[in-house]
Amino acid sequence: MTGPGLFISFEGIDGSGKSTQARRLAETLRQGGHDVLHTREPGGSKGAEDIRALVLEGDPDRWSPETEILLFTAARRDHLERVIGPALAAGRIVVCDRFADSTRIYQGATRGDLRGIVDRLHDLMIGREPDLTILIDIDPDVGLSRARARKGHEERFEDFGADMQHRMRAAFLDLARANPARFRVIDGTGPEDTIAARVQAAIAPALAARSAA
Ligand code: TYD
Repeated sequence: MTGPGLFISFEGIDGSGKSTQARRLAETLRQGGHDVLHTREPGGSKGAEDIRALVLEGDPDRWSPETEILLFTAARRDHLERVIGPALAAGRIVVCDRFADSTRIYQGATRGDLRGIVDRLHDLMIGREPDLTILIDIDPDVGLSRARARKGHEERFEDFGADMQHRMRAAFLDLARANPARFRVIDGTGPEDTIAARVQAAIAPALAARSAA
């Protein structure tokens, strides 16, 4: 099945379950005969995965907030140029685990008043939004305990603490309210299958429109 490309991103606070749901949606779409690229940020291309290691591993003070914005944006530019852009041009469905909204929230809204810089750099260097963004919304305390349970070597951003998790959830919901045409907010509490069904219902109209195009 081919058609115009469709770009779907998944967003949410750490431990929201968005990665599981992104993977499940990609599988379901494939089973439905769609040509799907499942990818993630930071990363998704060779260069961007190299930058991922720079930005997520090591000392929490390794980078200033400004440098971090540049690194995330550099990774995104490479990912878009080499992987996402060509996939969309070939008419594929791209399911991306995090995209620019993560930089708006993690760097722009929670680490100093840097949102203006994030947005300007995005306009200058990225200049594209997903067609649809699925925000998996959960209780921040639940997210925090899940994220702590699977702590690994990428720990620069893990464990922001409960207060920060609450602020980030609120910031994601504000972003969704400000961009209602693009965002679909999904309740991330409940069994995995139930949440997957909610995600599918949320993207069904876009899929139908695509098939009709
Ligand atoms: P991710 O691999 O999605 O982790 P998780 O599965 O825990 O959500 O993302 C890694 C971390 O990188 C996560 O804490 C969010 C952070 N991040 C940013 O701070 N800015 C960004 O632009 C992106 C894409 C991620």
